[in-house]
Amino acid sequence: MGYIDDFSEVGRNDVATAGGKGAGLGELVRAGLPVPPGFLLNTAAYELFVRSNELAERIQEYAALPPSASAKDYEDASAQIRGLFAGGTMPDAIAAELRDAYHQLRPGTELSPGTDSRPALGEAAEPAVAVRSSATAEDLASASFAGQQDTYLNVRGADALMESVIHCWSSLWTSRAMAYRSREGIRPDQVRLAVVVQQMVDADAAGVMFTANPATGRRDQIVIGAAWGLGESVVSGAVSTDDIVVDAATGTVVSRRTADKEVMTVYAGRGTREEPVPVSRRHQPVLDDAAAATLAGYGARIARHFASPQDIEWGRVRGEFFILQSRPITALPEPAGETPRDWSVPYPKGLYFRASIVEQLPDPLSPLFADLIDGSVSRSLNALMDEAFGKSSLRTGDLGLPAINGYAYYYYRTAALWRLMGKTPALVRALIRGEAHMGVQGWRDYSHPRYVRVVESWSAKPVADLTGQELLEGVSALLDAGTVYYTAVQSIIPIATSSELAFQKFYDKFVRQDGDPPAPAFLLGYDSEPIRAEKALFDLAAWSRTVPGLAAAILGTPTKSLARAQVSGTPPVEMDPGLWGQWEHRFQLHLDHFGHTVYNLDFVNPVPADDPSPLLDTLKFYLRGQGNDPHRRQALAAGRREDSTETILSRLHPARRSVFVRLLRWAQEAAPIREDALADVGLGWPLMRRMLRELGQRLAAAGLIADPGDVFWLRHGELSSAVEFGLAAASSPAAITGADQPVLAEAVAERQMRWRGQRNASAPQMLPEIRWLQRSLAGMMPEGSQDQEGNTIKGVGASQGRVSAPARVLAGPEDFSRMQPGEVLVARITTPAWTPLFAMASAVVTDVGGPLSHGSIVAREYGIPAVLGTGVATRRIASGQQIEVDGGAGTVTLVPPGRD
Ligand SMILES: Nc1ncnc2c1ncn2[C@@H]1O[C@H](COP(=O)(O)OP(=O)(O)O)[C@@H](O)[C@H]1O
Ligand SMILES: [Mg+2]
Repeated sequence: MGYIDDFSEVGRNDVATAGGKGAGLGELVRAGLPVPPGFLLNTAAYELFVRSNELAERIQEYAALPPSASAKDYEDASAQIRGLFAGGTMPDAIAAELRDAYHQLRPGTELSPGTDSRPALGEAAEPAVAVRSSATAEDLASASFAGQQDTYLNVRGADALMESVIHCWSSLWTSRAMAYRSREGIRPDQVRLAVVVQQMVDADAAGVMFTANPATGRRDQIVIGAAWGLGESVVSGAVSTDDIVVDAATGTVVSRRTADKEVMTVYAGRGTREEPVPVSRRHQPVLDDAAAATLAGYGARIARHFASPQDIEWGRVRGEFFILQSRPITALPEPAGETPRDWSVPYPKGLYFRASIVEQLPDPLSPLFADLIDGSVSRSLNALMDEAFGKSSLRTGDLGLPAINGYAYYYYRTAALWRLMGKTPALVRALIRGEAHMGVQGWRDYSHPRYVRVVESWSAKPVADLTGQELLEGVSALLDAGTVYYTAVQSIIPIATSSELAFQKFYDKFVRQDGDPPAPAFLLGYDSEPIRAEKALFDLAAWSRTVPGLAAAILGTPTKSLARAQVSGTPPVEMDPGLWGQWEHRFQLHLDHFGHTVYNLDFVNPVPADDPSPLLDTLKFYLRGQGNDPHRRQALAAGRREDSTETILSRLHPARRSVFVRLLRWAQEAAPIREDALADVGLGWPLMRRMLRELGQRLAAAGLIADPGDVFWLRHGELSSAVEFGLAAASSPAAITGADQPVLAEAVAERQMRWRGQRNASAPQMLPEIRWLQRSLAGMMPEGSQDQEGNTIKGVGASQGRVSAPARVLAGPEDFSRMQPGEVLVARITTPAWTPLFAMASAVVTDVGGPLSHGSIVAREYGIPAVLGTGVATRRIASGQQIEVDGGAGTVTLVPPGRD
């Protein structure tokens, strides 16, 4: 037979002839699942109908609508085309095959509930069938495409069947389907339709089933939606369903919610109708636990067969389940565990803060980083305190960096806090004199060179030549060098802060008059590392424009390809190798210089040196002429600064003038130094990540983990014993044999899942959560209160000015390219790597950060309002939402739609 196929004759590769639904049903039959008997009218039948009725050209005429076409235009075109189908005649060849196949279907005795509703005798030869559209458009899988074509239930008799088939075919041309296809760029002459003809299941219950939890992405759960009657009212959304979550492995019901089911779809004489659910059954659960387990068992089998999570339609009659459809779930989130709510602390006698180094750790920590950073931070802090206060001012266990629900906290034992507070004068003295390798002098002469030396000494040998043990040692040594350096940098921050505050106080009190600029204006226009990085990138873009064809080639190559090619050394296929060679060389110089800018200290996150995508996206902005010239901006700021300084100096009394000058110089020197110091915190990170990835590669080859990147999800103990067992040796490494999957693959997946759940939590800024203490310390914390409600969000006003504009909420560097000029940049935190985005933002809003954070300095430099440390901005604000940022008041107001 040419136009009809049995379900068992098609499989998942036959979408082109059987359509998505038909191919899926064929696959289910092959896998031995209970599918109601039926057959398939393939796309050749559709083509023959169109050809023999000479419809093709006329369809194209109506369907070729301009991009400006209105909804009405689509409706008119649809009506014309569907009219053509209705007026066509069924070719004899198809009609004969259809009649034949239909009459071979047995009347649906086994698929209907009881003898009572069995068709009367005269009709017995007329089995009830479902006539279902099965479209071939490529992205059939996408949810928005599902259900666009018609399906007819309870069709009886060959003539009615023929008519329904033609209706199905013509439903390829509904206005909705046509508009959808033109949006997706699917040409009208590319589409075909197959039709599934299938014995009806006279279902007493029906519904849908997801073999993964669509809310959390968890693949170990199956979610069932169930209602009374036929499933039409479920898929059309006319009835709310009972929702049951089942554990996929055991079939145990994890949770259930029983809905008030008002309506159900039942047989009409022909077709179906909706009727009210009898009162007694409205609140009754459709599936008991045993039935849910049986159905979930089918779900698990189907997911296994397709090797991907499935969206399934099912029906039940007399306790038997039938599977009516299966398709892949699209846009399923990565699995996430429960969101933690319990914030009890591990050691009760102490305080926990999300401050200082933790500002660079906004997300839950990866397991390996958590294990390593705790010891590293306590070691370096202990050393600092010893130098500042003399030996043994701290005792073992006095402080650390434990993770609670994955989030890093600074921990101080209460007793140690009191001890330290008594010694504060000593700390201040040490800072000011630059003793103990602290302060600006200590940073310049000691801490920075020392950090550079550690990195250089570990760079001496290529990572591929290092033994597993050496790699482990290298990672620890680099991390320690980084934390020691960070600790030293921390001692600069108070100096910059006090110089700025001292200048501001003096200026506001004794100098400033009406019309004078605010104090921060005197600190603008200077060079610092983030500004230098930005200018270098801008210059790189300018250079690219001078090489014929280069700018266009960069813009025409996806950022991902450019980034991958840069790191691997193989030119991207999209780009001319000659141009690539020139570009690659220049860009590498930039990366060598600035590639260690860290977005997040946790080494699970890429740095620009190993994933330069964020830089490339910024460069593309410049190439498109967006974002303003940082040189010009800096020159303008410097000019304004010098003019104001001159005006003020000329009018000040000499005594005042000398104080003003002294304070001004101090503040002007200190602020950029802090930026320079912070910019180099990640100096060791590119090498550290290369070492970790090398370990990962070796361990993946040895069969311990599935992917080299999984190394970050190992506990430190696991990693070091793997190294001890020789699994990460540079030459002739040991390997694990006999396991059917990498030994720790499951543990890694489990940890990643837990991490995603943790990331959905709001970590309190201070633990234990003691209200009065939090209020009194609130001013010192980098993040505002978590429980802000209403339309106004409060934070710290970090840069003056007022702006009303749409928000752009960015999760991280991977989102940089979404930013549009003029939007308000909303992020959890901004590190130096975010600097380029400030050039196109109209204002900045963050969850974490204070008046002295990097974000506020850059915002002032750029002259845009900033409200930082709101605690909730990224959760409460959505991209596209209009918001009003008031940098003076420190507020962000959500503008309700319709008000501007
Ligand atoms: N053979 C059948 N027996 C009973 N109900 C069916 C049958 N085929 C389809 N249905 C019901 O009709 C619903 C819609 O049919 P379907 O062809 O899948 O259309 P759509 O493409 O809009 O999902 C199905 O979810 C199912 O509940
Ligand atoms: Mg369906």
